[in-house]
Amino acid sequence: MKRLDGKTALITGAARGIGRAFAEAYVREGARVAIGDIDMTRAQATASEIGDAAIAVKMDVTDQASIDAAVAETVDAFGGIDILINNAALFTAAPIVDIERADYARVFDINVAGTLFTLQAVARHMIARGQGGKIINMASQAGRRGEPLVAVYCATKAAIISLTQSAGLDLIKHGINVNAISPGVVDGEHWDGVDAFFAKHENKAPGQKKREVGAAVPFGRMGTAEDLTGMAIFLASSEADYIVAQTYNVDGGQWMS
Ligand SMILES: NC(=O)c1ccc[n+]([C@@H]2O[C@H](COP(=O)([O-])OP(=O)(O)OC[C@H]3O[C@@H](n4cnc5c(N)ncnc54)[C@H](O)[C@@H]3O)[C@@H](O)[C@H]2O)c1
Repeated sequence: MKRLDGKTALITGAARGIGRAFAEAYVREGARVAIGDIDMTRAQATASEIGDAAIAVKMDVTDQASIDAAVAETVDAFGGIDILINNAALFTAAPIVDIERADYARVFDINVAGTLFTLQAVARHMIARGQGGKIINMASQAGRRGEPLVAVYCATKAAIISLTQSAGLDLIKHGINVNAISPGVVDGEHWDGVDAFFAKHENKAPGQKKREVGAAVPFGRMGTAEDLTGMAIFLASSEADYIVAQTYNVDGGQWMS
C-alpha cells in the first residue's frame, strides 16, 4: 500500500524544480497529478516524462479564469482533487531604494494572490465534494526574516505563512488541512537566477553565492528538490490529519521555530 494510493493532486508551477519533484514523488506514492503551469511546453514535457499518472494543465495563477479552468480541468480528468500544492512563485530582488511598484505588484500577484485564489477555488471544490482534503503552501525561510536585497520576495513568503494560519483555521471544519513547507536554499534553476543576481549586486563570481549559502547550512550543503518530497508526501497523507495551520522548516537546520 502506497501512501497516496487513489489520491489526486493539483500542483502549481510543477513544470520544473521543486514542483516537478513533488509531482514525481506523488506519482511514486500512487497519486495522479495535474501539473499546473504557465509554461505549457515544459509542463507537457514533464507530464509525459512522468507517465500516464500525470497530466499538464495550463494555468496562470494571476488570472482567475485560468485558475477556475485549471481546477475544472483537473476535476474532469480525475473526478476530484484531494491535494493542492500552491508551489508557483517568482523570485525578485532589489535594494530597497530601487524597488519598482510594477515588480512589487507582479510578484505579490503570483506569490500571494495566486496562492490565495487557487487555494480558494480548490477549497470550494473540496467543500462541495464533502471529502476534505490537504492543501500545502510553499513558504520559505525568506518568510521567517527579512534580507537586505530581498524585501519583496521575503514579504510575500511571510504573507504565505500568515495565510496558511488563517486558511488552516478556517477550513479545518471542512476536513481540509492547510499547512506549509518552508525550504531553505534549494539548488536548481530558481537559484541559478538568484546566484546571477548576487553576482551582479555583490560583485561575486558566478556560483560564489551558491557556494557561500551552501556552506552556511548546518547540514553542510544546499538542499535539493528531493530533500523536500518526504514532507510533501507526509502532509498530503492521512498521517497528517491532526496537523493544522503549521509551517514546517525543511532547510538543513537553518531556521529553528
Ligand atoms: N529554490 C529555492 O531555494 C526555494 C527556497 C524556498 C522556497 N522556495 C519556493 O518553492 C517553490 C518552488 O520553487 P522552485 O525553486 O522550484 O521555483 P522555479 O522558479 O524553478 O519554478 C517555478 C515554476 O512556477 C511556474 N510559474 C511562474 N509563474 C507562474 C504563474 N503565474 N502561474 C503558474 N505557474 C507559474 C514557472 O513556470 C515554474 O515552472 C516556490 O514557491 C519558491 O518560492 C524555493
